[in-house]
Amino acid sequence: MCGIIGYVGNRSAKLEILEGLKMLEYRGYDSAGICCFEKGELKLIKKKGKVDALKYACNEQLKDAHCGIGHTRWATHGNPSDKNAHPFLSENNSVAIVHNGIIENFEMLKGNLQKQGVRFRSETDSEVIAQLLQKSKCESELKKVQELFSKLSGSFAIAILFKGLENQIFAIKKNSPLIVGKSKDGFYLSSDVNALVDKTTEYRIMEENEIVWIDNQDCYVFDANLQAKEITYTPMNLTKEDISIGAFEHYMHKEIMQVPTAIKLTINECEPMVNPYTKLPKEILKDLKHITIIGCGTAFNAGMTAQHYARERDLIVDCVYASEYRYRKFLSQDNEICVFISQSGETADTIEALKIAKSHNIPCIVITNVATSTINKLADYVIPTKAGPEIAVASTKAYNAQITALFALIDYIYCLKNKINCRTCILKDKLYDVVKKLENYSFNNIDELAEILKDTERVFFIGRGVDYATSQEASLKLKEISNIHSESLYTGELKHGTLALIDHSTVVIVISTQKNLFDKTMNSIYEIKARGAKVVLVTQFEVESDAIDMIIKIPCTDQMLMAEISIYPLQMLAYKTAVLKGLDPDKPRNLAKSVTVE
Ligand code: F6R
Repeated sequence: MCGIIGYVGNRSAKLEILEGLKMLEYRGYDSAGICCFEKGELKLIKKKGKVDALKYACNEQLKDAHCGIGHTRWATHGNPSDKNAHPFLSENNSVAIVHNGIIENFEMLKGNLQKQGVRFRSETDSEVIAQLLQKSKCESELKKVQELFSKLSGSFAIAILFKGLENQIFAIKKNSPLIVGKSKDGFYLSSDVNALVDKTTEYRIMEENEIVWIDNQDCYVFDANLQAKEITYTPMNLTKEDISIGAFEHYMHKEIMQVPTAIKLTINECEPMVNPYTKLPKEILKDLKHITIIGCGTAFNAGMTAQHYARERDLIVDCVYASEYRYRKFLSQDNEICVFISQSGETADTIEALKIAKSHNIPCIVITNVATSTINKLADYVIPTKAGPEIAVASTKAYNAQITALFALIDYIYCLKNKINCRTCILKDKLYDVVKKLENYSFNNIDELAEILKDTERVFFIGRGVDYATSQEASLKLKEISNIHSESLYTGELKHGTLALIDHSTVVIVISTQKNLFDKTMNSIYEIKARGAKVVLVTQFEVESDAIDMIIKIPCTDQMLMAEISIYPLQMLAYKTAVLKGLDPDKPRNLAKSVTVE
């Protein structure tokens, strides 16, 4: 959510920053901006729209700049516009800042500054930072930056330029990610590692309440009391190929095709003889009574899928949205663990929920796809998913990887509780079958169905048991990237109200992968058809019925693992529908990846 980039060194700051912003664009694409030192002045260019609009606006300007900061925005305070785009200059143009996060006390700060006569140019919370720095009475720039910790509340990663300190960038971080990259040609700041691939050989993730000061020679890190810290860099292990779009037109398409690999690599990681399972607290797990799974959006849906898997293994799982967990009354339960799921590891709600669970001494396991993420550092135990970088805003391969890790975790707990040898090897074999089936899957009928959906106003996804979890995820995918109104329902719930919305203009996509529930589902299909809707059935079973308009036949695997397969054509359906509607599936309206604000 919002991307920050900074560069100081021998290369062209303009090119490095624009390239970095392009890689960070998935974090927000309402507007973008750049500010560089040019002949001692802070030269600012910013534009509503995507990074390409900024690139166009820069044209021949900033050619000789070697130090600057850039930002790509996902609007929180103030609509997307040129004036609300970052960077912000202070009133006398002596300070420039870019900010990711939310300044929760900005109204109070802004009011105080306005009383002192400061005039603001934007409607954002972030502009107060530049004005505060200009007004600061501290004797050095470093101290001015340090003072921000005591003045600002909320979450922030901020990069700062001071007029008069050419080729120097300051940065601070609290509850928002920021990374320093090192190369032979200079230093970088970035909101994530992806933007530094191919540019830096090493990087360092900033820790909470740190200050960083970089110039073209070196990097200095201080804690909030200005005590200098030792710096250890991590070698960059991502390659350009990991983050490139390859032969695909969209990242989402590439990432759907990577689903089988994401499952394979994740299940390999879940081998109980290697990390991370050996580190889990056996004593706690063997007497476990309750698992709470917490996440947002797709990560939450992965938890819902696992809930059914766990129930079959006599484990009680409660799934809670992180945004709800944070504020609901806490009730302690004996022998409980919390499992937090987050692809990015930076989702603000999930991180705050984790802090709450930890404050109640509940062991916290985190399942995440980004080893360098904030949530990893806070977790008691980490189970990594191995989906590789996910760049499209809509999550696909990470979802399958999350389910895989959850299945393995549940099997592990089940075996400990029942004092039997861990059966992850059996799960592994079964998941290899899933992988093989997905690799050979040909997405029958998906183009045809996308053609129908593109002109449909309302779509329902329904399912029973674990198929309901899949229907939730399929519905989320379709609505977020194709802007079609879509809802998911338990099949049995349809007739308790929502059936009133079913008519000839509706498409109902029924997911049915559980043998014992199939006949019951067919009853519902007849009821839907009788109201005139178009019925699409996603199943591995052989079926013929006049009540069904289209069957999306999926390969058969162990029934308990069908959720890995049934979502696959529906991810592709969402993608194809968005493309047919002429929308950019990688950058859906109003959304951004990595939701680092509440
Ligand atoms: C939907 C989607 C979101 C994320 C959610 C949580 O396609 O991607 O719903 O799943 O914002 O993000 P993470 O997993 O990064 O915590």
